[in-house]
Amino acid sequence: MKYGNFQDDLSSFSVSNPETPRPWINYLGNRRLRAFISQNAGGLMWYLEPYTRRISRYHYTAAPGDRPGFYIYLRDLNSDVVWNPHFAPTCTPLDSFEAVHQPGISSFKSLKDDIEVSIRYGIPPDDDVMLWDINIINKSNKKHSLQAASYLEFGILEFMREMIGWCYLKGQFSLKYDHDLNAICYDYHVFEAPYSPEMAFSSTDKCAGWDCSRDAFIGRTGSLESPTALKKHNDLSNSDLPQGGHACATLGINIELAAGESKKIAYFFALAPEKEKLNSLLTKYQDYSNVFSAFEDIKSFWDKRLRVLQVKTGNEIIDRFINIWNPYNCVVALETARSISTDHMGTDALRFRDTTQDALAVSHIDLEFAKEKMRQVLAQQTSDGGGCMTFFPYTNRQTTDSPHRSDNTVWPIYTIEAIIAESGDSSILEEVIPYRDSSEATVYVHLLNGLKHIYMRRGPNGLPTMFHADWNDGLALFEDEAAESVMLGFQLVYSCKKFAKIAARQSEKDDIQWCEKVIDEMTKILNSEKVWDGNWYRRLLLSDGKLVGSASSSQGKIFLNPQSWSVISGVGGLENRSQKVMHEVKKYLETPYGLTILAPPYAGFPEPEDPPKGSNAGVGENGAIFCHANTWAIIAECLLGNGDRAFDYYQKLLPENIISQVGEDHYEREPYVYVSSIVGPGSDNFGKAGISWLTGTASWMYVAFTQYILGIKPSFEGLIIDPCLPKSMKKVTVSRNFRDCRYEITIFNEGKKGAVALEVDNISITGNLIPPVQDRKVFQVRCYC
Ligand code: GLC
Repeated sequence: MKYGNFQDDLSSFSVSNPETPRPWINYLGNRRLRAFISQNAGGLMWYLEPYTRRISRYHYTAAPGDRPGFYIYLRDLNSDVVWNPHFAPTCTPLDSFEAVHQPGISSFKSLKDDIEVSIRYGIPPDDDVMLWDINIINKSNKKHSLQAASYLEFGILEFMREMIGWCYLKGQFSLKYDHDLNAICYDYHVFEAPYSPEMAFSSTDKCAGWDCSRDAFIGRTGSLESPTALKKHNDLSNSDLPQGGHACATLGINIELAAGESKKIAYFFALAPEKEKLNSLLTKYQDYSNVFSAFEDIKSFWDKRLRVLQVKTGNEIIDRFINIWNPYNCVVALETARSISTDHMGTDALRFRDTTQDALAVSHIDLEFAKEKMRQVLAQQTSDGGGCMTFFPYTNRQTTDSPHRSDNTVWPIYTIEAIIAESGDSSILEEVIPYRDSSEATVYVHLLNGLKHIYMRRGPNGLPTMFHADWNDGLALFEDEAAESVMLGFQLVYSCKKFAKIAARQSEKDDIQWCEKVIDEMTKILNSEKVWDGNWYRRLLLSDGKLVGSASSSQGKIFLNPQSWSVISGVGGLENRSQKVMHEVKKYLETPYGLTILAPPYAGFPEPEDPPKGSNAGVGENGAIFCHANTWAIIAECLLGNGDRAFDYYQKLLPENIISQVGEDHYEREPYVYVSSIVGPGSDNFGKAGISWLTGTASWMYVAFTQYILGIKPSFEGLIIDPCLPKSMKKVTVSRNFRDCRYEITIFNEGKKGAVALEVDNISITGNLIPPVQDRKVFQVRCYC
C-alpha cells in the first residue's frame, strides 16, 4: 500500500510515509484518561468526556493540518539541526520514518543524521498517566550532544467555555515548574468548573530548562514549525505562567551520547483527584522501569480482549480485520461514542441509539463494560419510555439541541439480549435503573416501556411515527413529524419477537401476548398495499398521503433499509417478497464499493426542480454507500441463505478492498478501521470515504461476519453454529470463548445450504445448538454445512 502496511504478527499498521492524505489516528487510553494520536503525533487528550474535561488542544478547523499534539523536539547541539522524530510539526526531512499504530499504543522510529529515536505513547489500564517512552541511539562513531524538549498544549477543560469565555477564563489557572517534583504543575481553578483535577507533566530525567508559556516557547514570530525557544542553544526561558494564558508543558533534557551509546528517557502527563495521589504517580513514573512495565500491561490488556474470538478463513484481509482491527474499532467506538475524532469536535457525548449499537459487539469482548454502558444509556430514558439523542453521563446533561429520534428505544433490546446470551445470566433484567425525569424501573420494564413508547405513537396508517427522524437522520428533511416509518415498523416487529422471548424467560404472559398482538398488527400493515410498492417496501408514508421510496417518485425511489429489515424482521415472508426485495436492492443499489442507501439521490428537495437542501447528492444519507446500512443487507442475505451475495457485500466494504480500487489519495481515511459512509455514484467524488472510527458500521459488521456469515451466535440456550459461507470459503477455523469455555471450531463448507451437522469432541449432536456445559474447558467442534 502507498503510505504503509499491516503487520499482522504485531497486530499493527505501520505508516512509512508521514504525509498521509488525512491524519491517520489511533486511540490510546484506559476507560478514563484517553487520547487520539496521528501518524505525526498530532492529537489531543481528555478525561472521561472531551466536552468538559479536555486536557490538551487540537485545532479542528485547520484540517487536514494536524496540530498540535504530543511533540518531542530534538536539537543537535553540534549541527544545530532541529527535528521531530515523528516528522511534524518541523517537517525536517528524516533519513527514515515509521509510525506504528496498534491497539492502545502508537510508536515512532526514525533516523536523522545517525541518531535513531524510538518513541511509544500509551496510557496504562490502571493509572491516569500518558507515557511518552523514548529511546535514543547514537549510531555514529562520534559523540553527540542533544537537547530534547517536549510540547503539550493545554487549554480550558471545558471546550465551549474556552471558545466563548477565553478572555476571562485564561486568568483562572496557572502553571509552574516545581523543582522538588521535577514537574510542571497545572493549577486549575476555573470558576464554576464541573471538574478541577490535579495535573502535572514530568520526566524520568531532571529537566535542564522548561517553558510553561506557549508565547515564550513559540516566540513572537515563531510557530510550532520553528519555535523560537529551539532556535538557539538552550534557549528555553524557564517561563512559568502565574497569570494564566496560553499554556504548554515543555521540559528540556540534555543528552550526551558517546559513539554507539543509547539512552532511555520518558516524559509523562499525570492526573489525579487530589495532590497526594498525583505525587505518588509522579514518583512512580519517574522510575523508568515502571514506564516499561506499563507498556507490557497495555499489551496484555488488549491481547486478552482480542483473544476471545480468533478466525482463520484463508483470506488475510478478513482475518486481520476480524482478529484485530474490527473488534478494536468496536471497543473504541463504545468508549468514545460519537464524541471525538478528527471529524467530531468533542461537543457530543454518549448517544442513546449509537452507544447501544456499539455495545452489541462488545458484549463478548468485555461483558462488564457493555453492561456499564447500557446502564448509562437506560438511565437517560424518560418515564414515558422515550429515549434522548445525546447526553453527558458525567455531568448529567443532555445536549440542548437533542432532537427526538423515534427509533432510540428499539435498540436496547438487541444489546440486552446479547448480554444475556453471552453470559447465560439474565439478572441484568432485574436491575433497577432510574429514569431521567422521575422514578425508576427494572431493565425489563425499561425495555418494555421503550417498545410501548414507539407503539403508542402510531400514525393514521397504524405504523410508528417518525418525529424528527428514525435511524436515518437525513429523513428529518421531510419536516413531517407525523410521517410513518416503515423501517421502524419492521424494527418494532423484530424487537417484539426478541422481547417475547425475554418475557417468556421471566414468565410474563401478558407481555408475551402484547408482543404477539403488535407483531400481528404490524405485519399486516407492513405487507399491505399502503407499504408494498409492487417490487419493494416503501420508506415513509407522509402525513399528506405522499410516499417516500416509491417507484412513482423521480428521486429516492428505493431505499435500502426497509428491504433489509423486512427480511431481518421476518415480515417479508409473504409470497417470497424477501428474496424479491433483496434482488431489487442488488439491481438498483449495488456499486463496486457497496450498496447505496437509496437511489436515485435527491438533486433538489423535495422535488428535483427545487434547490438542493441537506446533503449533496451521493453524500451521507442522500445516496452514499452508507456502510452502517450495508451491514443489515449482509445479515438479510445470510438469513435468506445467499452466502455468496452476503460475502460479496461484506468484503466489498473492507477498507483495503476499496482502497485497492480507488487509491489511498482518493479514499483518504485509515485503511484499518471502518468509515460511516463512502461517497456514492451520484457525486463526482464517488469512492471518497467519510467519517472514520466512530460509526455503528464497526459493531454491525462484526456481528454480520461472526454471527451470520460464520454463524457463531450466542443464544440463551447455548452457542448456535449456523454458517452461511460463500462457496469459495471451504474451511474456516474459529476459536471462541463462551461462558468460561473455549470452543475450537472447524467449519467444513460442503455446500449443504442451511443443513448443519455438528460434532462436539467427536460426538454428533442434533441441530445447530451446543448447549452450555460447565465441566469442560476446551471443546473441539466440527461443523459440516
Ligand atoms: C450516523 C449517526 C447515527 C444515525 C446514522 C444515520 O451514523 O451517528 O445516529 O443513525 O448516521 O443517519
